[in-house]
Amino acid sequence: MRPVRLLPLLLLAGPALAAAPQYTKAQAAAGAKTYAAQCAMCHGAKLNNGGAPKLAGPAFFQKWASNTLDDFHFITSTTMPQTKPGGLKEAEYLNVIAYILQVNGFKPTTKALAVKDLKTYTFKK
Ligand code: HEC
Repeated sequence: MRPVRLLPLLLLAGPALAAAPQYTKAQAAAGAKTYAAQCAMCHGAKLNNGGAPKLAGPAFFQKWASNTLDDFHFITSTTMPQTKPGGLKEAEYLNVIAYILQVNGFKPTTKALAVKDLKTYTFKK
């Protein structure tokens, strides 16, 4: 049985390996409310129909393709909402990112989006 067990270990060994982002339905639901209250007025109710840069769709994916979600979280949590940068709670930022993932077609899982995992996630499906 040993050879079979080695494979997952090898896969975990590469720090640069990207994994599909994991978030829960509850996080996205909470994030939708925060988004509506804190982000929609600039980025649009649909994430791509406001005056501010699009947070959904092909151009958004293209722009963030070579970055991890850690980078995305950093930009979001230190510069947004533009009117009060860093003004939300950590959980609120994670929830909003979960919501952005959901709108961009990523499916919820049973594992919550957590800061410690962000470096392993990208917007690639
Ligand atoms: C008052 C308007 C306003 C609000 C509110 C706001 N944003 Fe922004 N956001 C902007 C503008 C303008 C930019 C572009 C800034 C720049 O390029 O320097 C931006 C850029 C961003 C970016 C970088 C996008 C990219 O591809 O470069 C992200 C991510 C983002 N906002 C997320 C959010 C989230 C999440 C919220 C809510 C928590 C939010 N923003 C609230 C105006 C706003």
